[in-house]
Amino acid sequence: MKQHPVAAARLTESELDQIRMLIEQRSAILFDSSRERFFSTRVREYLEEKKLSSGAELLGLMRGSSVEYEALLERLLTQETSFFRYPAVFDALSKTILPEVQERKFWENPRTLRIWSAGCSTGEEPYSIAIAVSDALKFAEAWEIEILATDISRRALRHAEKGLYPKRSLQDVSMGQVENYFTATKHGFQVKPRIRRMISFAQMNLVEPVYVGKIDCIFCMNVLMYFSDERRLAILRRFYDALEPGGYFLLGHAETLSNVPMKFESVTLGDCRLYRKPGALESRRAPALVEGAS
Ligand SMILES: C[S@@+](CC[C@H](N)C(=O)[O-])C[C@H]1O[C@@H](n2cnc3c(N)ncnc32)[C@H](O)[C@@H]1O
Repeated sequence: MKQHPVAAARLTESELDQIRMLIEQRSAILFDSSRERFFSTRVREYLEEKKLSSGAELLGLMRGSSVEYEALLERLLTQETSFFRYPAVFDALSKTILPEVQERKFWENPRTLRIWSAGCSTGEEPYSIAIAVSDALKFAEAWEIEILATDISRRALRHAEKGLYPKRSLQDVSMGQVENYFTATKHGFQVKPRIRRMISFAQMNLVEPVYVGKIDCIFCMNVLMYFSDERRLAILRRFYDALEPGGYFLLGHAETLSNVPMKFESVTLGDCRLYRKPGALESRRAPALVEGAS
């Protein structure tokens, strides 16, 4: 992209570094050299748009007001997502994870199922989870189901809560699922209330330790890759603690827990790798421990 000569003059390298550090401290998102161009372009565009005179002025605003800080942060987030983004993961959810939870909790009363979509973006991921659960779970009415969907971006969450999507975004949703779980409106396809009711949306910065209770399965796909090793490890520890024994942790396709010192068991299903917290169904399988596990 062509750089604006005046805007470039207003923003020094040192100011850019300070903005980068502020973002990293508060959100954990790291803009390393591979994302340097993206970062500086977005900050310059923001300066122009807000008609600010310098990077120093922007820094002052960001330090003095969380609204200003969040406004820039929104520009810097990558929110790419889609329904059933990795089909193999949803297959694993339907065919392995949910049947295990059903077996483990068969005699529990109430029978709860809690799944967390951490970094849910505009909602396609938690709605895909809710649809997969509705399709797969026998006697769904006998369960107390909650899908917790969190993101740092208020803008993405507003979109998610509407549950309204253009037809083109439903290309990986089967015709039967579209019929069962969406209503066609003149503005697009709206997720039906019974799916919407399964989900609790909440703004949450993963860096801040927030109590979420016990969870059966955590989806954290394409989020941790933007964090430093140290931050990633701290968040992974919290995920591990939040999981029920036998609970699953799911990452995006290009992500792995290799060399992470955690006690997750690695389970490979087709071309999908899942991570399982030990402690339940021990006798039924002997999974490989994650490399580096203590
Ligand atoms: C690339 S999207 C991934 C969406 C979805 N999980 C998927 O894989 O399709 C990454 C999401 O992580 C969110 N995110 C980034 N940093 C975060 C943080 N510190 N706390 C919570 N969410 C964060 C972004 O706002 C964005 O919606």
